[in-house]
Amino acid sequence: MVSVNWPKWPQYGKEEQKAVQRVIKSNQLFADKEVREFEDQFSKYVGCKYSLGVGNATEGLHLSLIALGIGSGDEVIVTSYSWISSASCILMQNAVPIFCDIEKKSLGICPVDIEKKISPRTKAIIFVHMFGYPARVDEIIQISKKYNIPIIEDASHAHGASVSNIKAGNFGDISVFSLHQRKALSVGDGGVVCTNNVDFRNKIYRLRSFGDDELSYNYRMTEFAGALGKVGLLKLDSQNNTRVENALYLSELLRGNEFLTVRTCGELEQCVYYAVLIELKKDISNLEQRLKNLQNKGICIRKTWDPLHRHPHFNPKSIMPKRGLPWKEEKYDGIMKNVLYKDLILENVDNFLPSKIFELYVHPPVDLNLIKFASIEINKEFSG
Ligand SMILES: Cc1ncc(COP(=O)(O)O)c(C=O)c1O
Repeated sequence: MVSVNWPKWPQYGKEEQKAVQRVIKSNQLFADKEVREFEDQFSKYVGCKYSLGVGNATEGLHLSLIALGIGSGDEVIVTSYSWISSASCILMQNAVPIFCDIEKKSLGICPVDIEKKISPRTKAIIFVHMFGYPARVDEIIQISKKYNIPIIEDASHAHGASVSNIKAGNFGDISVFSLHQRKALSVGDGGVVCTNNVDFRNKIYRLRSFGDDELSYNYRMTEFAGALGKVGLLKLDSQNNTRVENALYLSELLRGNEFLTVRTCGELEQCVYYAVLIELKKDISNLEQRLKNLQNKGICIRKTWDPLHRHPHFNPKSIMPKRGLPWKEEKYDGIMKNVLYKDLILENVDNFLPSKIFELYVHPPVDLNLIKFASIEINKEFSG
């Protein structure tokens, strides 16, 4: 059997080694000059006014909710297709997640469903550009304005993605990026909060490092992360170009496959393909085995994530510890009162996740030859 070694992501080199050594030599390992420089460079890259480095995106999302004044019993509308952090941050503020369906095109939060779920308790909306495919930002922003509800943009998969030439990081009142090791901008663990609002910036700046009158945190970024972030930023565009090229080539090579379609994005959108999403458009027998066969050939493909509304955080077996379950509190009388999260019906989420969307990782140094190999094998496995 012919198989390949799918290149690992990330691959650090000499520049990253130099950056880490520079930090060690400086004897200053917690947030200082490297982080400040990285923040400035990140703001320039994204085109936003303020960037603040944090320890990871989960912390950034938590700080964003605090800055927006979200607290006990408030409801926050959030997509059910994301990593747990997009919704667990809501529980950290003892607020109630209201899970929303996704829309078919971007697999981001569905604007129509957002409007259905707005209640007097709604205090924020969190949306995500899943795998670097821009969400329906125009409609989300319109809803935010219409109902005067702030939005948090989780851009953890979308470094460099844009809509109408405006980069991700500008579509939320507050936006958050992850710089986790596996992300396109990879520093080990790290995150960035972006905003164009000076009050949010100042509040998050204080909360990040024990500096506010209200409960504050140590959510700082390390100098190592700042130094590695600066190197990563210089490489990001060229690496994104490779991802795009790989994704579009795969799309071309799988065109005509009766079972699969590679998802690409609209004309005004720039997707960065943190992973390429491939949709299973027609049922096929032995799906698990077919995916396994491809993985055995070295191809980095897998089924996507389970919906968040079925995650154990929202479906606890017991109500101990008595924390993190705000919808169970007596004083709460909102949408989730007496409703089980796992029983929610979200049509597109239920249809697509996890078995009708596959992720294929195309980070450099994956190249067109590897994409060609993958497409031949995928076309063989998924044929009538
Ligand atoms: C969409 C999304 N949001 C937030 C996070 C949390 O990122 P971090 O690991 O930096 O806390 C992740 C992590 O994978 C993610 O995929």
